Amino acid sequence: MRAMDIVLSYITVSVFVVFITFKLLSKGITNRRRNLPPSPPALPVIGHLHHLKQPLHRTLQNLSQNLGSVFSLRLGSRLVVVVSSSSVAEECFTKNDVVLANRPRLTIGKYFGYNYSTVSAAPYGDHWRNLRRLMALEIFSTNRLNHFLSIRQDEIKRLLHRLHQKSSNDFARVELKSKFSELTFNIVMRMIAGKRYYGDDLVECEEAKEFREVVSEAFKVGGLSNPYDFLPVLRWIDFKGFEKNLGKLHKRMDSRLQGLIDEHRRDKSKNTMIDHLLSLQESQPEYYTDSIIKGLMLVMILAGTDTSAVTMEWAMSLLVNHPEMLKKARAELDTYLGQDRFIDESDLSKLHYLQAIISETFRLCPAAPLLVPHISSDDCTIGGFNVPRDTILLVNSWAIHRDPKLWDDPTSFKPERFEGGEVEGHKLMPFGMGRRACPGAGLAQRVVGLALGSLIQCFEWERVDEELVDLTEGKGLTMPKAVPLEAMCKARDIMKKVLSEDVNDA
Ligand code: HEM
Repeated sequence: MRAMDIVLSYITVSVFVVFITFKLLSKGITNRRRNLPPSPPALPVIGHLHHLKQPLHRTLQNLSQNLGSVFSLRLGSRLVVVVSSSSVAEECFTKNDVVLANRPRLTIGKYFGYNYSTVSAAPYGDHWRNLRRLMALEIFSTNRLNHFLSIRQDEIKRLLHRLHQKSSNDFARVELKSKFSELTFNIVMRMIAGKRYYGDDLVECEEAKEFREVVSEAFKVGGLSNPYDFLPVLRWIDFKGFEKNLGKLHKRMDSRLQGLIDEHRRDKSKNTMIDHLLSLQESQPEYYTDSIIKGLMLVMILAGTDTSAVTMEWAMSLLVNHPEMLKKARAELDTYLGQDRFIDESDLSKLHYLQAIISETFRLCPAAPLLVPHISSDDCTIGGFNVPRDTILLVNSWAIHRDPKLWDDPTSFKPERFEGGEVEGHKLMPFGMGRRACPGAGLAQRVVGLALGSLIQCFEWERVDEELVDLTEGKGLTMPKAVPLEAMCKARDIMKKVLSEDVNDA
């Protein structure tokens, strides 16, 4: 009897293995016949979902080393094409720009994209175009950015004051991650609503706490490595209450944003983004609904705060690990600005080495390493392969920025490589390319440039000990550092000048 059982089990397992092998082979043959980009062997039902290990950009780079710079994955029911070559990325965002200008309808967009109506989640079309035009005029035009300059200057000075309090006499140990997050959050919230959310002089701490919690939760659940969007069965049963939780999270955020709109409706005296949008609502109430305004606010918060903060944290980490480059940057600032003039945004374009440091940070540590997912709205070809309609496209800018065919000694931090001037757009793409490229790039460059320049001009910086700062990446949408950055700083004489200028309220 036992022998019979063993034989039966053996036959069952063999049949299963033959079946799976046949399925995989026939799938491979079909893929080749259809000229789809190559893909690794897939498992039934889940396809390649088991490959999605964090950090995703590294996993996908490893796969590209075997499969080539254009390959495909089947994530449950969805086909995904991954591009890790600069010339193919350029093809995607020039020849195929329109066909790839759509976004996949991921569940997060239903809740945090106000039912796919925000600029980052909306399908390509008139509504998206209107929102981009509106943002370009009302938020990111040179006029508007100049109008908000005093907010950026004031928030950066407040950060310098806080650091100075600790380090006026000697080197002091400071944690920078949270300070950078608070800086960018305050800048964006003051542009939106004229309110600070972090600092000593706050009245509405609860509101600030709630915002911060909801934003960090939203970042945790977002992203492509979530199987929920790829296995319909998980959606039918609302696996682990995923949608229910998203709904609750969205409600909390929505009521905070609505509260801010209502405040501004009562008091129209301020000159913030909400006030401008409310005056547009008066003339076109059917288009500029409260939902559209809340969507714009939310996009600014989700896309515009963490991205700039992690970039600053990476830049400072790389600099304290390379003191000779920090010294060179300080020498540039001292030579250009003299001993008693404090840096301003208008100086940034002349500070070539500082700009080179920022470009090199974007190259090695892009805050959106896989950009934001796109989807094809029609059949197209990518890198000579056929790509059917409704295929998700991921561009691995992190891998492109480290491609040894494009960059000499690609994993080393060498700002000097950018000193010669501009680099071709498709080699360095931290903000993406084409129609869907980041509309906030100008604001981000100003904030990161002024903050970094001020920190280098006003303080000496050192590591906390002999050991290099750990540059491991943590989990998360915006490629955070696994270990928050701590460093030693000591105020320089120029801080006296900064202190003598008033911190003004905008
Ligand atoms: C260092 C800072 C930043 C980086 C690295 C960054 C990067 C990116 C990238 C890679 C994309 C996607 C491009 C694509 O789909 O191909 C994107 C989209 C976007 N970013 Fe940024 N971003 C930054 C800062 C900002 C800021 C400050 C704002 C606004 C306040 C912003 C708003 C947006 C919006 C609204 C989109 C969606 C555009 C669309 O779908 O049409 N970003 N960003």
